[in-house]
Amino acid sequence: MQLFLDSAKPNEIREAANLGVISGVTTNPSLVAKEKVDYKERIMEICQIVSGPVSVEVLSQEAEGMVTEAKEFATWASNVIVKVPMIEEGLRALKSLRQLKIRTNVTLVFSLNQALLAAIAGADYVSPFVGRLDDVGHDGMQLVAEIVNAYKTYNMSTQVIAASIRHPLHVVQAVHAGAHIATIPFGVLEGMLHHPLTDLGVQRFLDDWHRAIGEQERKNDV
Ligand code: E4P
Repeated sequence: MQLFLDSAKPNEIREAANLGVISGVTTNPSLVAKEKVDYKERIMEICQIVSGPVSVEVLSQEAEGMVTEAKEFATWASNVIVKVPMIEEGLRALKSLRQLKIRTNVTLVFSLNQALLAAIAGADYVSPFVGRLDDVGHDGMQLVAEIVNAYKTYNMSTQVIAASIRHPLHVVQAVHAGAHIATIPFGVLEGMLHHPLTDLGVQRFLDDWHRAIGEQERKNDV
């Protein structure tokens, strides 16, 4: 199980990378747009922070335009993965991208059928959006488990990224579902790290230690 950071913020990415727990990054147009920066500059900056895969999404809605964008993205850094939406034109683009040996992440996947098509078309990664499915009353993590099982049954090498992760429990559920990767916002990473009993335990050990040292010093003074 690997963790990617779902972020376009260099400071967050740097902090998570320094913890040594993230293997890659996923971005999307909404995340980069919020930053109000140049797309290419920001992606190149991110690709320098992490050596693992960095997903960059195409904006075109036509296969030809997607391929043109993908070729351009691939020149930005060697760890760029091109994110293609799970639409008809996206599938068409996948075929060309596979021939060009450009690695892909098929995004906005909401059904097993879509995940099957993406894998058959040669996607390197597929991203089922768990939180957005939960939002509309479906079990997002159930879909992740179904995709993982299907890929296992048919020996498909496409990696499943549990995406649209909203809280630490989603990560636990992604592990149980057998997802290869979970891409998580920085806040979820912080939520995974902290536990009040850990903080309490650390404080208690320190208090005991200082109390014992204090007692020893008092004895030595007598
Ligand atoms: C994944 O690649 C997407 O960028 C992301 O997980 C979308 O999450 P959201 O539904 O919280 O926007």
